[in-house]
Amino acid sequence: MMNTIVKKINEDNFTDTDLCEAAKILREGGLVAFPTETVYGLGANGLDEKASKKIYEAKGRPSDNPLILHIADVDSLYEIASEVPESAKRLADEFWPGPLTMILKKNNKVPYSTTGGLESVAIRMPEHKIALALIKESGLYIAAPSANTSGKPSPTKAEHVIKDLNGKVDMIIDGGKVGIGLESTIIDLTSKVPTILRPGYITEEMLNNVLGTVDTDKAILKENKDKNYKPKAPGMKYKHYAPKANLTIFEGNEATVIDEIIKRTMEKQTQGVKVGIIATDESKEKYQCGVVKTIGSRKNNKSIARGLYEILRDFDDLDVDVIYSESFLDNNLGQAIMNRLLKASGYDLINVR
Ligand code: TXA
Ligand code: MG
Repeated sequence: MMNTIVKKINEDNFTDTDLCEAAKILREGGLVAFPTETVYGLGANGLDEKASKKIYEAKGRPSDNPLILHIADVDSLYEIASEVPESAKRLADEFWPGPLTMILKKNNKVPYSTTGGLESVAIRMPEHKIALALIKESGLYIAAPSANTSGKPSPTKAEHVIKDLNGKVDMIIDGGKVGIGLESTIIDLTSKVPTILRPGYITEEMLNNVLGTVDTDKAILKENKDKNYKPKAPGMKYKHYAPKANLTIFEGNEATVIDEIIKRTMEKQTQGVKVGIIATDESKEKYQCGVVKTIGSRKNNKSIARGLYEILRDFDDLDVDVIYSESFLDNNLGQAIMNRLLKASGYDLINVR
């Protein structure tokens, strides 16, 4: 175990000096967890083979799962990609800094230890002020996966990072709760047609508006859950984002779903099973059984995205045996929400229509 420094920094009131120590740790090959607008990241010098290897150790992450390189200005693209297509420039103009990751061909500065042996590299310019300032202050390209133990829900608060990584990293920067709560959208620009490998806050429609045509990796579509497509983003193949308890999702008419969850919860409770229920602001009063928590409001998908990982972690702390969840419309941001929820459940979806 190493001594982990936890440093609180206010996103709206800090100076570069506040980040000196963190930047120094990174330059010396150490690990620093930091907030981004999507989820907390676990950072290391992305061009230093030894440093990025430490990330895999701290997270218990499979070494074939590549990392995202975080940059602080668009020009950095040319330092790490061997080709920057027109589509990348247009997307950067429109969505950077922001929650979009682009896959491009890597150049030989980028070690295979960062790309999991691939010839391509994932690149993102985050919008969070602390993340941007840390990249600039360190003068590095920061490789950063989500700052959770591999397989657990991604961290949306410093407390989550501390729980998973205390004693395993040099520093954790506590910048409060993140804004978005789901990992960035990943788009592959090395394929003929730009292809979404992971849905996120930047939706297919938004990408289509800029590029004209985009595909979505077949393997991540809900209707293909039983077919054996191999996801193009290595990380999407693992059971992921999972809480300790078994999660089951119920889909169908809202009132019917609620009735079904209540019925099953009562049954389980008579068997002495502790049930957690993922409800919404609109439905929470209807459940008079189980441990009920609201994920957010159906009137605001952003609140649901922001609440998703936190509610899964809260149920871990509450030691529930099973979790029942309502489901959400699979469009726009809802696509990313359902993608993560389904993965967290191991695709345990019951239709009650
Ligand atoms: O929002 C985010 O993207 C956060 C914050 C910290 O920036 N990071 C994040 O990283 O979610 P991570 O490592 O948890 O997820 C990266 C995903 C994995 O599924 C990985 O397989 C995929 O990106 N990926 C990385 N490089 C790739 C490449 N060259 N080709 C295909 N997929 C790649
Ligand atoms: Mg992750």
